[in-house]
Amino acid sequence: MPYNDLNDFLELLEKRGQLARIKQPISPELEITEIADRVMKGPASSNKALLFDNVSGSKMPVLINTFGSAERMAWALGVEGLDELNTNLAKIIDLRLPRGLGEVMGRGRDMMGAIKSIGLKPKKVKRAPVQQIINRDEPTLDSIPILKCWPKDGGRFITLPQVITRDPTTGLRNVGMYRLQVLDSRTLLVHWQRHKGGAEHERRAREGKAVDSGNSALIPAAVVLGGDPASIWCSSAPLPPNIDEYLLAGYLRGAPVEFVDCVTQPLEVPARAEIVIEGYVDTNDHRPEGPFGDHTGYYTPVELFPVLHVTAITQRKSPIYPTTIVGIPPMEDAWMGKATERLFLPLMRLFLPEIVDVNMPAEGVFHNLVLVSIKKRYPGHARKVIYGLWGLALLSLAKAIVIVDDWVDVQDLSRVTWQALGNVDWSYDVVITTGAVDHLDHASHQHSFGGKIGIDATAKLSEEGYHRSWPEAIQMDPQVKARVDQIWQKLKL
Ligand SMILES: Cc1cc2nc3c(=O)[nH]c(=O)nc-3n(C[C@H](O)[C@H](O)[C@H](O)COP(=O)(O)O)c2cc1C
Repeated sequence: MPYNDLNDFLELLEKRGQLARIKQPISPELEITEIADRVMKGPASSNKALLFDNVSGSKMPVLINTFGSAERMAWALGVEGLDELNTNLAKIIDLRLPRGLGEVMGRGRDMMGAIKSIGLKPKKVKRAPVQQIINRDEPTLDSIPILKCWPKDGGRFITLPQVITRDPTTGLRNVGMYRLQVLDSRTLLVHWQRHKGGAEHERRAREGKAVDSGNSALIPAAVVLGGDPASIWCSSAPLPPNIDEYLLAGYLRGAPVEFVDCVTQPLEVPARAEIVIEGYVDTNDHRPEGPFGDHTGYYTPVELFPVLHVTAITQRKSPIYPTTIVGIPPMEDAWMGKATERLFLPLMRLFLPEIVDVNMPAEGVFHNLVLVSIKKRYPGHARKVIYGLWGLALLSLAKAIVIVDDWVDVQDLSRVTWQALGNVDWSYDVVITTGAVDHLDHASHQHSFGGKIGIDATAKLSEEGYHRSWPEAIQMDPQVKARVDQIWQKLKL
């Protein structure tokens, strides 16, 4: 059964011993960060989701570290292990002709299941838990225990939102997880980076391409907090601009997301969320946002971002405020990124079928390091994959790509390091170029534009100019291994 809302998921976490309730009074200013940071980086046995019941200055409990382990992230997306995400999706997008009737029927069932879960039309309801309390006269952010995360942050930030806007030209919806800084009780700043869907909506509105709004500089927006865990996570998924993130959430949870109309904006929002902040973004009004202790592990400096004016706040009678912190990795968002890596692997393979596996380690903050194993078939094959990835959606922002042969397990960092260091002649096997880099990259000499490196750590071919014979990697004789397996227990080692 899919989780209907955050409470359903918390019930499961509690049953499985993965939710810690904190009753002591704790401040949303820095104290929650310090506790959550220790838990996120601490031993796996005490890494739990944290529900702070007694947050100073607010009646709302604060939930953090909900997705902060491989297990919790997998459960949130309806699977027991993150690798199932990749195998399940691979089955649906398998474009090979089926062999035999059994396979036809099996594929048909998988496909019908996926279509049913997405729902052919958006599922709308009139009465929604998230509208049990509606405040459109005096909406105020003051009742929400929004964190100040790090000492030198420029203020308080909403960090786990689903920010919904529509493309002013096509009307298509985008949902993005973009942090929002509180300016005052009715004004926020929305930090959508230049490569993201929301920023494109802003540019289109400014270009005056809106078809049906009187004032194209204003974009209706909804900031959704909570809902079923797949919907929360989906707002961080880098889907192409024309694919609705809530369709992906429907597919993952096995049932369509239910929507309700906003009370002051022409948008629909998930009916079973905890809180919705409705408003509009004034694309002609940019103000200084930040500094913010970011997932790079550094403070992102002040930059101009557009203002979001709040027009209403709707909520459940007793809502929970879900949030996260980012900072020096690993943190909760490393697992959110891991889910993206696992789910998107079959999609990468659609364009680059030689890819065996991909690992974006937490220390690389998603785009700083992409480790890829490939089945190498021809000269220049590793370079083809490097350039292919640099042309693929948000992987275009990847700063370092390392390619190894198929037999190297890229999830084993020790193995990849061994291969990447030993198999490379640095004067031949490296591609250095410039291109788009992440908005938050502080090392590039120019904003969002900088150097990138591709490393070919595969075994080299003679056609690649390698005229010595490539050595064989050491492996034990299988018969000896089998014999030692048999006596291993007796050796008591
Ligand atoms: C916890 C967390 C916080 C994030 N904060 C931001 C942010 O403030 N601004 C931003 O542009 N992207 C942020 N991201 C990344 C985006 O959510 C991600 O790139 C997503 O694909 C954006 O949606 P879009 O592809 O529809 O633009 C964050 C991701 C996570 C997991």
